[in-house]
Amino acid sequence: MEYPTRGRYANAALSPLEDDAMAWLDGFYQLEHLIATRMWAVKICPEASPELRFAALTHDAERFFPGGPSSTPSNGFDDPDYLFAHSTRSANIVEEWLRSRSPAPDEAFIRRVRRLILRHEIGGGWEADFVQAADSLSFLETLDWITVDWVRDDRYTIAQAREKLDFTVERIRPSIAVTAALPLYESAVRALDAAEDCTMDLKRRRELAGSRRYLFGRPIPPTG
Ligand SMILES: [Fe+2]
Repeated sequence: MEYPTRGRYANAALSPLEDDAMAWLDGFYQLEHLIATRMWAVKICPEASPELRFAALTHDAERFFPGGPSSTPSNGFDDPDYLFAHSTRSANIVEEWLRSRSPAPDEAFIRRVRRLILRHEIGGGWEADFVQAADSLSFLETLDWITVDWVRDDRYTIAQAREKLDFTVERIRPSIAVTAALPLYESAVRALDAAEDCTMDLKRRRELAGSRRYLFGRPIPPTG
C-alpha cells in the first residue's frame, strides 16, 4: 500500500468533458479510483470509445452524493439489490449532469454512457465487460487501503473484507485483464492480511484519493 505521488495522473490525457467531470467530482474519496479506472480501460482496450472512457471515469459517481445505498452492504458485495441500486443511481446522476451541460453532448453519447454505467458491476457485452474489468483492476490497485480501513474501523473482519477482493477479481472476463489483475490482487490481499499492523495514515490516504489538484499535479494557488 502506498500513497499516490503528486501528479501521478498528470498524463491521463482527459478530454475537456472528462476534465469538467473531474472538477464536478473533486473531493470525492473515489476520485483516484475513477481516474485509474479510465486509465485501465484505455490500457486493456486501446480502441476504447469516448463513451467507454467516460463511463469508466464516472461509473461510481453516485457515492459522492448523500442518499444512496450503503457501499458497505451487510449481505455480501455481490448482492444484486445493492449492485443494481448503486449502478442505477450512478447512471441517473451522470445522465443528469451530462444533460445539464450547455451544449449537452449528443443523445447517442448520453445513452451509451448510461448503458455502460448501468452494466459496470455486471458486465454483459464486450464494452461493458471492459468497464467492469477496468473497475476491478482500479479497485485492486488504488482502493487496497479502503479494505484495510474497513477492518480498522471494525466494519468488517479481514475475512469479510477479503470477499470484496475475491468478488472483484473473480468477475473479470477479458483475459488480458485477468492477467493484469492477479499481482494486484495478491498485493491487496497481503495489505489486508496485515491490516492490524498498518501504519499508513488512512485519513490522509482518503484525502489524497479525492484531491483533483494533488492527483493531477496542479499547482497550489498562492495563499494570502
Ligand atoms: Fe468502481
